[in-house]
Amino acid sequence: MGWARDFAASIQRDADLSERVTIRAGGRARWLVEPRTAEETGALLDRLSGEGCRWRVLGGGSNVLPPDGVLDDVVIHPARMDWFDVDGDQVSVGAGLATPKLVARCSEAGLAGVHVLAGVPGQVGGAVAMNAGTRHGEMCESVQGVHVVLADGRLVTLTRGDLRFGYRSAQVPPGAVICGVTLGLQPVEDRRELRRTVGRYIKEKNAVQPTRSWNFGCMFKNPEGQKAGVLLDRAGLKGLQRGGARISPLHANFVENVEEARSEDVLWLLQQSEVRVLEHAGVRLEREVRTW
Ligand code: EPU
Repeated sequence: MGWARDFAASIQRDADLSERVTIRAGGRARWLVEPRTAEETGALLDRLSGEGCRWRVLGGGSNVLPPDGVLDDVVIHPARMDWFDVDGDQVSVGAGLATPKLVARCSEAGLAGVHVLAGVPGQVGGAVAMNAGTRHGEMCESVQGVHVVLADGRLVTLTRGDLRFGYRSAQVPPGAVICGVTLGLQPVEDRRELRRTVGRYIKEKNAVQPTRSWNFGCMFKNPEGQKAGVLLDRAGLKGLQRGGARISPLHANFVENVEEARSEDVLWLLQQSEVRVLEHAGVRLEREVRTW
């Protein structure tokens, strides 16, 4: 582990992953690295690939289920790359900035675009990688350039076209780490009105989704022309519990950690949901959650 000596200032050994994911389940990572800059990330990936080490990227952890045991892969966590700079109607933002902070700061600055993400958890890098969205719009609509470090350590800027955004998806090159994003936003005359819109979106979400418990947001994508929540609800999944994990009685596309759930319990509920919706409605659900 020669690389670990050179990055000692940014490393945590034996890091608790459960406290870094919104479902609050899972075990520990042997190595967790929090680089401060894109350059440091580049040097890190160069060393890791040179030494044949595998890595994974963990953003805000709102769509990740880590395993219960110890993860050997190096976990790269961009939380310290959280810059936010406004230049006219352009914003340069670090991948580690929390999405709710991005929404708040842009609306305070009177810039519309990412306000459509009001109420979405996670961090900016993950919002790009998953093309996070709501009924009001998606991350990709505001993206101009995405600054990534490729698996060989090279720093490049990808365009919206390069990333081929889809519904809750983007084609991020394998092994790449998103470090920052340039957003193109729309200045508004009335900042207070924009802030009110953000407040309204959050309120709407709080009324129909269990936004105050430990959960991933939606577990599954909505199949073309259908709602995963409705399919899961009709298949009778609401309230189903295993260990400390439970399908939300409020919204069937949410699994909640109600009492020290193990990752294994959460995974069982994901699998049961898939099986029961397939049996009941003949629909194969696609996961939003990435199980590690
Ligand atoms: N519904 C039920 N039973 C349920 C859950 C929902 O009948 O158990 C019905 C609701 O009554 C409503 C409809 O299903 O008529 C849709 O529910 P909701 O408004 O919550 O929207 P959704 O399609 O389930 C999508 C996104 C959410 C986003 C909301 C609001 C996906 C998979 N989900 O949810 O995004 O917050 O719209 O904009 O696209 C996420 O992706 O993690 C996420 C939470």
